[in-house]
Amino acid sequence: MARLPDDFLLGSASAAHQVEGGLWNDWMRMEEEEPERILDGSSARVAIDHFHRYREDLELLASLHQNAQRFSIEWSRVEPQPGCFDPAALAHYADVIATCHRLGMEPVVTLQHFTLPVWLADRGGLLAPDAPRLFARFAAACAVALGAGVRWWVTVNEPNVLCHFAYNEGYFPPHQRSTGLALAASRAMLRMHVAASTALHTVAAQHGRQALVGLATHERRLRGAPGSPLNALAARLPDFIFNRWMLQSLARGRMLWPVGRGESVAGAAESLDFIGLNYYCEDQVVFDPRSTGTLMARTVPFDGAVYTTFGSPVQPEGLQRALTSLWAEFGLPILITESGVADNHDELRAQYIVDHLRAVVRAREEGVDVRGYLYWTGFDNFEWLPGYSQKFGLVAVDRETLTRTPKPSSAVYAEICRTRVVS
Ligand code: BGC
Repeated sequence: MARLPDDFLLGSASAAHQVEGGLWNDWMRMEEEEPERILDGSSARVAIDHFHRYREDLELLASLHQNAQRFSIEWSRVEPQPGCFDPAALAHYADVIATCHRLGMEPVVTLQHFTLPVWLADRGGLLAPDAPRLFARFAAACAVALGAGVRWWVTVNEPNVLCHFAYNEGYFPPHQRSTGLALAASRAMLRMHVAASTALHTVAAQHGRQALVGLATHERRLRGAPGSPLNALAARLPDFIFNRWMLQSLARGRMLWPVGRGESVAGAAESLDFIGLNYYCEDQVVFDPRSTGTLMARTVPFDGAVYTTFGSPVQPEGLQRALTSLWAEFGLPILITESGVADNHDELRAQYIVDHLRAVVRAREEGVDVRGYLYWTGFDNFEWLPGYSQKFGLVAVDRETLTRTPKPSSAVYAEICRTRVVS
């Protein structure tokens, strides 16, 4: 039995596009114009209407004893036209933050979670030459308007996933399939993060506030499958590019090879106060010369693993490995900004949470500075390409009536949040 400290953040995480409804951004445009891209033919037009129901939703999560909430501010809502900031949108997020505080929950605020305003997408999206400057301007506007209530800022969510899916696999807008563009997008997102981090720190200093700035990295280590030493070799380069390139480049203050050419980036080395860790699972790969899009590493299933409805293995021990290796390499505090399971019948979730929190406890016993665990996600929501067909939530949402119903696993997590005891 282990007890997590009182100031350890235990809560859940979400993203604007997946819950709010009523948005117009590059994803919504894709969902309207090419509905066939969404597996169940749905869209985020209404999502779970969290934009209007945020007070009740946050009250429900607080009643489950959560003391932290991660959510994202939708750039397209706050800045519907370039340079024009909507005071009503900022006031909305100010009230979301105030509601979190009133309910005893620490807000963890993400500035970009996969979506972009259409006006930016139309001028090149992540690859627009001025994307870092524009993102920093948006970040500064958020910091000025909202910074009094926010200590934890996440600049970008999973740049590694977004660049891969949008520019390598072509699943996410703008649907490119080019390794060269994926690498260019990675460099662009590094610069966007650094520019936003500088803006957040500068505004905080001007106002005498404390800002802890990080990015949320998706950690999915690649391991070579047994059977051939080539498998481990094949894992190395894609593993580095996906899991370590961004963090190591930031730590060293330069764009490392092979994504960059060693060029230095001012402000990079000071841009991270913590690492936001999104952990779901690890992957096992074999060498396959035909898998050119993934640099000749092809994913194969783990023998005997439990798989989620989304097809990911359940591997709590991988979370412990992720925490210890990030701590050993970077020595920065870690906030688990996402960890969750697609489990449509709520069969795996309670055990999943207990096992992953045990991994956190073990990592802390080894000396890793883990500051919190934010379960993905509070409410079943719009899960990107699968639509509503994959359910990660602690709370079910009826798609007809939008009625919220806590699942049995939410009570198990609530008890841990209340007692802080992981047994
Ligand atoms: C993303 C979330 C997503 C979750 C589950 C993460 O990669 O940040 O937006 O819903 O995975 O697939």
